[in-house]
Amino acid sequence: MTKNMTIDSDATKLGRTGDSVLSADTTSETDCAAETSAPTASKSSSVKASPRGLANEQSLGASTQCVHSGEQRQKAEGSITAPIYAASTFTFDSTASLLRFVNGEEDREEYGRYGNPNEKSVEAKLAALEGAEEAILYSSGMAAIVGLLMAKLSSGDEIVFFDQCYHRSREFCAKHLSRFGVVTHQVPTGNFEALEAAITPRTKMLVSESPTNPHLTTIDLEKFAAVGKSNEVETLIDATLATPFNIKPIAYGVDYVLHSATKYLGGHNDLLAGVICGRREQLESVRSLRGVLGGVNSPHNLYLLERGLKTFALRMQRHNENGLAIAEFLDAHPRVERVYYPGLKSHPSYESAVAQMRGYGGLITFTVKDADWEETSRIVDAAKIPRIAASLGGVESLIEQPLVMSYYHCTPEDRVRFGIADNMIRMSCGIEDTEDLIADLAQALEA
Ligand SMILES: Cc1ncc(COP(=O)(O)O)c(C=O)c1O
Repeated sequence: MTKNMTIDSDATKLGRTGDSVLSADTTSETDCAAETSAPTASKSSSVKASPRGLANEQSLGASTQCVHSGEQRQKAEGSITAPIYAASTFTFDSTASLLRFVNGEEDREEYGRYGNPNEKSVEAKLAALEGAEEAILYSSGMAAIVGLLMAKLSSGDEIVFFDQCYHRSREFCAKHLSRFGVVTHQVPTGNFEALEAAITPRTKMLVSESPTNPHLTTIDLEKFAAVGKSNEVETLIDATLATPFNIKPIAYGVDYVLHSATKYLGGHNDLLAGVICGRREQLESVRSLRGVLGGVNSPHNLYLLERGLKTFALRMQRHNENGLAIAEFLDAHPRVERVYYPGLKSHPSYESAVAQMRGYGGLITFTVKDADWEETSRIVDAAKIPRIAASLGGVESLIEQPLVMSYYHCTPEDRVRFGIADNMIRMSCGIEDTEDLIADLAQALEA
């Protein structure tokens, strides 16, 4: 048995935390779990002094949700915007008040790693937008993936994921989860027979993106959720590229939805954050572990995210318009070999995109006809509006050649395996005017 820290008997009764009540002991993990007062999902989401959001939130449009959902109607000092609660800890005015809190009679904040008023508002807004019971914020999309998988998996468990995905998610599963005895199986994206065949009695989670990065393949979410349910395996969709404006995987029966909020949700290329949405009960252990791992956002970052979210639905309309118009322009251009965009009929997963998505987002991947990597770079360099940078989903258009950006350090064999071609360009269409972006790309393609 390992040597754990546990709470002394009096403190355990009180459910109290803190160094002063901890003592070295040789007790079990169960005792250690009791140590944290990281709020459970239900506790953290209950209503405080002023009601949050508007009545019947789920029947409201996305823009109304963006502006009002999750926020206390009456904020401190009558401020229309939420004050930034720049506090690492929260004070109790007496032991009686502390006891009310630890006994679950009062819902309030205790310590910044377990929650913050800014975080509560943003989580409630994101849950409303996603149509989820609960949302848990993290300091980045990767922190969210790691937080969920670490909470849900144990040594000996297996996961199966569709192989087109953000390369760091693949890296975490293949390289790092394996060190903790978790086995990951990759199967070809969209191949449901292979997905079913890879499931064993030890499989705990099926993972996919939709649409995938950077090939923009849309997954049939109903089928994906059904495979999970019939095998009693939980399902996770990383819907970063779709956003809750364009798709709501929970409505199809998916258990967990993940977003890199760094992208469209924040929307201004000025913050990193991540979020997991799902059912309260299923997320309890996830929130609890987050309180231990500590990958949380600063109140200032949360303020930025909340501000970004106010215009999220408006921005998505423009991202969708720009994405489709530019994908169609590229598709018809003689220098372009192939365009990957969910809203184009030529995409193999077009049918499921049309059936499930409200719009197709701003990310486009395309290959240049008969071009080597240097000719392709010349086009990237010739574009004047989009900036060369990793990331996507912000108001500024971004452009990159995956070969020399995210996949530069991969072996040529791995690049082939991951479907990354030398002549591939990925563009994240921002919210600039469509005609300006098209004119700029037209001149860049002359390079
Ligand atoms: C689909 C997808 N998921 C997750 C992530 C990771 O998000 P973050 O950069 O916020 O950690 C990214 C980042 O590009 C992504 O594209």
